Amino acid sequence: MRDPLTPNPSAGPPLAAWTDRIERSALEEMLVETARPEVLSLALGLPTAELFPREAMGRAVAELIAHDPRALQYGPPRDDLRRFVVELMRERGVECRIEQVFLTAGAQQGMSLLARLLLEPGASVLLEEQCYTGFQQVLAPHAARIVPVGSDPSSGIDLAQLEARLGAADLPALLYTMSDGSNPTGASLPLAARPRLVELARKHQIPILEDDAYGLLSYDGTRIPALRAFDPDWVIYLGSFSKTLAPALRTGWVIVPERFTAALGSLKESSDINTATLGQRAIARFVAEGGFHPHLAKLRAAYRERRDALLDALSTHLPEGATWTTPRAGFFVWVALPGEIDTVALLRRALREEHVAFVPGGAFAVPGAQPARSALRLNFSFSPPAVLREAVSRLARAIAREGRA
Ligand SMILES: Cc1ncc(COP(=O)(O)O)c(C=O)c1O
Repeated sequence: MRDPLTPNPSAGPPLAAWTDRIERSALEEMLVETARPEVLSLALGLPTAELFPREAMGRAVAELIAHDPRALQYGPPRDDLRRFVVELMRERGVECRIEQVFLTAGAQQGMSLLARLLLEPGASVLLEEQCYTGFQQVLAPHAARIVPVGSDPSSGIDLAQLEARLGAADLPALLYTMSDGSNPTGASLPLAARPRLVELARKHQIPILEDDAYGLLSYDGTRIPALRAFDPDWVIYLGSFSKTLAPALRTGWVIVPERFTAALGSLKESSDINTATLGQRAIARFVAEGGFHPHLAKLRAAYRERRDALLDALSTHLPEGATWTTPRAGFFVWVALPGEIDTVALLRRALREEHVAFVPGGAFAVPGAQPARSALRLNFSFSPPAVLREAVSRLARAIAREGRA
């Protein structure tokens, strides 16, 4: 912070006060090590590169550039892609109009813009106890006051606890939640709980930010509608092509009430003028050629196989008393270990002795929540089944030694 009484020009420009709260934890330092080439990583949350539609995207980009000089120009969001999003949303049970579809640079930009649109400085925000760290980062400049709500690694947000929080005098400005394939727990909210959750939001007039980054990647053949399907007024939806096509395309969307779009448009323009329109056009072409749905089916089958390989390896190798979730969607399995094993210490051992990595559960705890010390998040999207099996057997050896230590 600037001190006007003791000028210090050599210190250079001061940063805004909120940056004082940015901390790089020992855990983050350790997670950098997980990228070493000899490490088998169950830590990363990436889609597998083997399944990117490289050929079709390469062809689409090359043709666009060859035939239309405007392909490299500034340009407005693509209506053909917005129309496709309207269609795609029906698969999530959501009816919307093209005017409500706002294209963003990934779901991440969507959540950042919406936080700026909806939050006054110091507003309180409801988050599940374990929450996607990217949204926690979004909140940092807003000095938001976090109100943690309990959540179950299998069935998601605890509605009774939420109701109790909503009864408090200080009404939160929004609730951020993932109803399908949560990152980090893999939880999906049961169908019966969905109308109850949106009823609570409507009754207390709390907008829900529904992060559905993984909702289209479901593995059990059932179609459970997104929260937005139950209330188009109070649920704002965040979607993404990062997991179904490729993250480098930086293309996602939000579904918002139409009265949001003027302010969102202005915020967006101030952030990046236009979102990667070349990527949007390439996706629109891929879709028009009929590529999207066969690709999605291929991803679902491949990720289901990887999920099942990981679950099978957990059953084979993990010690008695360990429990884990069976995610119906998404990229992650949440494991709870018995015997109060500290998973930060376990990660240190696993990296050093077995060259295997995961993310300790505590990394996702929101301020004010009890960190899940004996839990860990495992990713199954990034590595093929044989690697997942080997990684789990290494992890189990590290757990056995840590348990004895
Ligand atoms: C829960 C969640 N939301 C949003 C994102 C960001 O996605 P995008 O690439 O669309 O910005 C991620 C990325 O990993 C995520 O895990």
